[in-house]
Amino acid sequence: MTEIRIAAIQTHPEFGQVESNVDTALAAVPPECDLAVLPELFNTGYQFINRAEAGELAEDPADGFTARRLRVFAADCAVHLVAGIAERDGDRIFNSALLVRPDGSWEIYRKIHLFWDEKIIFDPGDLGFPVFPACGTTVGLMICFDWIFPEAMRTLTLRGAHIVCHPANLLLPYCYDAMITRCLENRIYAVTANRIGSEHRTETALTFNGLSQIVSPLGERLAAVDDQACGVIEAVVDPGATRQDLTPRNNLQSDRRPEFYDL
Ligand code: ACM
Repeated sequence: MTEIRIAAIQTHPEFGQVESNVDTALAAVPPECDLAVLPELFNTGYQFINRAEAGELAEDPADGFTARRLRVFAADCAVHLVAGIAERDGDRIFNSALLVRPDGSWEIYRKIHLFWDEKIIFDPGDLGFPVFPACGTTVGLMICFDWIFPEAMRTLTLRGAHIVCHPANLLLPYCYDAMITRCLENRIYAVTANRIGSEHRTETALTFNGLSQIVSPLGERLAAVDDQACGVIEAVVDPGATRQDLTPRNNLQSDRRPEFYDL
């Protein structure tokens, strides 16, 4: 496998300003990267006041405005993109992540673990934790709060992921350090693209904590945004360096003893 140049784009979306949010995020994608990860709900903003409002801003990934912009950009710039959008599928609305390839093909992941008021806005994801071919390797997708369930990243690992793309709108402070362990215990890379800023569209004010990062299979922070600014981080990663033995007698996949786990 060849090395892959990955970027995480940390943005400050303005609620409901889909066109300018998409413009700003895509303008930040470094020209030479192979895979760029954008935050959760990067085009709409996060705090919908109700399900109807989310329905108005949600898109069909086959032909919605944002999906089309991502596909054109991916083709023009020969880059793979992963980005969080509100997805409409008939009457259902999902908090989803779209993977778009330069050849125009695309995949979708629907957030399994909904956080707080997301439970009254979105339908829970129904597609499991799929992995997809991209950039000559296998990537897995999860969204924000999924990180706190070790089963999410473990499932992606067991299904063959080398890189987990993690669009986020993080509110709790724990993910930044916890992802070190997630990567180490699975021996794969993770790319968390978070947003910054605040939204106060309901009775609850929300402040997103930035701290986007790219973490290695050894739990090393390869790149991180260390302040509350919009920014881009990049790292060159080697998918061949994932899933390696921890010692000459230990491999974290083959050493598992699932017959003793209550899962
Ligand atoms: C979150 O899952 N957006 C906190």
